[in-house]
Amino acid sequence: MSNRLASSIGALALKNPVIAGSGEATMTESGIRAALAAGVGAVMAKSTNESEAAKTQLNHTDYMLLDSRWKPIPWSDQAPADAQLFCRSGLQPENFDSWLEKLARLDQEAQQQGSYVIGHLILNDVEKCAQMAERMQEAGLRAITVLVAAVHGDQAAKGAIAMIRDPQGIRDVVGALRKRVRVPLWIKLPGQTEDVSLLAAAARDAGADAVNFIDRTLAMVPDLETRAPFLGTIAALGGTWSLPIACRWLAQTRKRLGPDFPLIGTNGARDGYDVARMLLAGAHGVEMTSAVMVHGVGVLATAIQQLDSYLESQGVSAQDIIGEAADKLTAYTDQPSRPGRWKSFINPEAVD
Ligand SMILES: Cc1cc2nc3c(=O)[nH]c(=O)nc-3n(C[C@H](O)[C@H](O)[C@H](O)COP(=O)(O)O)c2cc1C
Repeated sequence: MSNRLASSIGALALKNPVIAGSGEATMTESGIRAALAAGVGAVMAKSTNESEAAKTQLNHTDYMLLDSRWKPIPWSDQAPADAQLFCRSGLQPENFDSWLEKLARLDQEAQQQGSYVIGHLILNDVEKCAQMAERMQEAGLRAITVLVAAVHGDQAAKGAIAMIRDPQGIRDVVGALRKRVRVPLWIKLPGQTEDVSLLAAAARDAGADAVNFIDRTLAMVPDLETRAPFLGTIAALGGTWSLPIACRWLAQTRKRLGPDFPLIGTNGARDGYDVARMLLAGAHGVEMTSAVMVHGVGVLATAIQQLDSYLESQGVSAQDIIGEAADKLTAYTDQPSRPGRWKSFINPEAVD
């Protein structure tokens, strides 16, 4: 692959901006190895934390695919790219010591391949999170992500997941972690909040090296056949529709924080063209999670090829396009005045 794909997230040079996102596909050694073999710039390991309740949550998971009209469709690698993934997920159930030993070994393997395995934590107790992050860096992991308000937190058992969704809360948590974590510290932010860019600013001000966003959305989907909710609960939803929302927050965060602070895009990327879209919106790296769960790690290799051929056809590099579309955003009032444009939507037969 050409070096037109190269990107970086702060001090970490990425061979390409495609990242295998944290999820069930990165919960095992073989899953992480397969993602590395697909050639990604980095792999986000499945998240863990200290809570037993969070670990047992994995026994209550369920997953389904819906088409764009909310009809269930078979779980298959032949599912359309716009299938929506509706699910309850849980956390890595493995004992932390053995998981950490695997991650450290896998990150060394990743290093041989010019890639990274990123340690991933979901916040519960801040002190325990800091201790686990310290253990990760002592084990040799070269970067750590902490998700501060996992989408399932509101529905999960009490004491499993903390939900930090306000700027002061983010400043406090990130400040506490930063005092203990020397390696790059990336903070994953929720989408279900008033203004993601304010949370990103708080994370940066408290010492985060990058922010990833946005996490998925809680939803409820009634089943017309059974007249009950699909999966029996509120659960997390994502689909191709999530991409423009993630792009909006990437662009607005870039505007607030400037072009140099690294942003990592997640939520809605299904192929290499979506990766390019998130780069154009301001991402320095882009995670793909649902696409890998549904279609397998092959989507990662294909995405890298698609991104490369897109960049070649445009005569640009990945670095060149980061934030390019975001920086071309204008205000409503900057758009030319077109009086009467709205009139085309009025029924001519309507009488006032
Ligand atoms: C089944 C499933 C499990 C997930 N587990 C985690 C997790 O453990 N930690 C985390 O930070 N994000 C987790 N996520 C969120 C993804 O990493 C990602 O941010 C989200 O799915 C949006 O990206 P996508 O559209 O590429 O799937 C999970 C998502 C799914 C669908």
